[in-house]
Amino acid sequence: MEVTALAGRLPEAAADTIVVNLFQGVKQTDGATGAVDAALGGAISRLIATADFGGKLNETAVLYPPPGGGTGGGDVTATRVVLVGLGKREAFTLDRARQAAGTAARRARDLGARTVATVLHGAGAGGLPPRQAAQAVAEGSRLAVHRFEELKTAAGREEADEPPRHLQRVTVVELDEAKLPEIEAGLARGRIMAESTVFARDLVTKPGNILTPRALATAAQEMAGGVGLRCQILEPAQIAELKMGALMGVAQGSDEPARFIIVEHSPPGTGDQPPVVLCGKAITFDSGGISIKPSEGMWAMKDDMAGGAAVLGALRALAQLGVPQRTIGLVPATENMPSGRAIRPGDVLRAMDGQTIEIISTDAEGRLVLADAIAYGHRYSPAGMVDVATLTGGVVTALGHGAAGIMGNNPDVIARLQRAAETTDERVWELPLWEDAYKKAIRSDIADMKNSGGRAASAIAGGMLLKQFAKQVPWAHVDIAGMSWAESDAPYTPKGATGYGVRLLAEFAAGYA
Ligand code: BES
Ligand code: MN
Ligand code: ZN
Repeated sequence: MEVTALAGRLPEAAADTIVVNLFQGVKQTDGATGAVDAALGGAISRLIATADFGGKLNETAVLYPPPGGGTGGGDVTATRVVLVGLGKREAFTLDRARQAAGTAARRARDLGARTVATVLHGAGAGGLPPRQAAQAVAEGSRLAVHRFEELKTAAGREEADEPPRHLQRVTVVELDEAKLPEIEAGLARGRIMAESTVFARDLVTKPGNILTPRALATAAQEMAGGVGLRCQILEPAQIAELKMGALMGVAQGSDEPARFIIVEHSPPGTGDQPPVVLCGKAITFDSGGISIKPSEGMWAMKDDMAGGAAVLGALRALAQLGVPQRTIGLVPATENMPSGRAIRPGDVLRAMDGQTIEIISTDAEGRLVLADAIAYGHRYSPAGMVDVATLTGGVVTALGHGAAGIMGNNPDVIARLQRAAETTDERVWELPLWEDAYKKAIRSDIADMKNSGGRAASAIAGGMLLKQFAKQVPWAHVDIAGMSWAESDAPYTPKGATGYGVRLLAEFAAGYA
């Protein structure tokens, strides 16, 4: 789907569907919505008068132009007009623009629309700068209509009553030609953010038999080649050479060989800059290993590489945006499987930096692969480091599906994450990593630490283990276990893989430029 901009009058735009909006409680249409209302012979005004449409956020109505046209001047050639509510004007936000764009695009798509001409949500009475509003419209529309279709046959789709409806183009139509350059710039940024998020979503959606560690490495390589990122893939021999004993320990139970993926964004002139390092957990399937998970819902553990996917998506976005900040993505990729060669509870592993970890649960594997990634990251002397992982069920208990848990050793990194989250509306909430209160959770009698402290504050125990590997590097950990997968549709996040973290990490890294 393309998102473009054009100067002109919205009612006469060449598209099969026109999208306009309304704030809650507004009695009189104006601006582009007013022009379309006039072209419809006052149909929107009548809708408001009947109170059939109140303008609540993400409320929609569909209207059809009368045969003779209205009193607006030109000819409405569109088949339909989709009206979307923006909610109360006082409560309007950038994210509401994203949501309204997503809601309208999906409604149009479901009606069979192929081309949409839309108002720039929030740029008028909403008070958003045109550039930001345009980015939100591009992100919202593109993210809302995304579907993973690779694994359904045409017959299967028909059977499921999912006609192959594809929205091909959304055009922002702006009366004031002078605003076009700003709008185009915002759309370009939004397109890249959205496409990079969709890239991550598709990786997360793909099941473990298809997206193996090798397949993930290949996908990273192809993506990197396409956008001009450097990419290096380490195979088991090189992983062993580096003494990444924690990653190797997790991988040893699987027939699928591990990969350590390194992606580098080094735009010209940034070669000797301290980089931002992003580490992403990529367990392509987490069975729990010998500490095996209950079978119910285990299929969902195909999403245990969502952190790695978010890192790859963010690097993709940074490359395409040409952000002048050196950034490195480190993605340790392996399955976590039980077998005669698998690690056992009680085993002790030695990570790359020499620290030893006693395995209490083989299901606490994410922190193991990340320990080696974080240790590896030290060689870059990072300006800031963030790891992203579907690390614990505990963070879902604490925060549900409303926010990722963040914790770290440096207030600046935390604050930067919080600021980025504010911009992208991918919410984060800080949990404490107090040594005196929580370090004992990972104390081991025979090794430097143990990998599980049981149920109490398990999200924090996970962060505490990672902290032992970050050492003096300014670092934060983002636990996305509650955010990587959505159980139901939201305005611009369809049910399934969310791509959470791509925009957040890209925005975070760009903040260092
Ligand atoms: N991948 C899981 C965490 C997870 C759980 C993600 C539920 C999404 C939904 C992780 O590897 C895991 O199994 N964590 C354990 C750690 C425990 C053994 C200390 C957990 O949270 O139960
Ligand atoms: Mn696990
Ligand atoms: Zn896991």
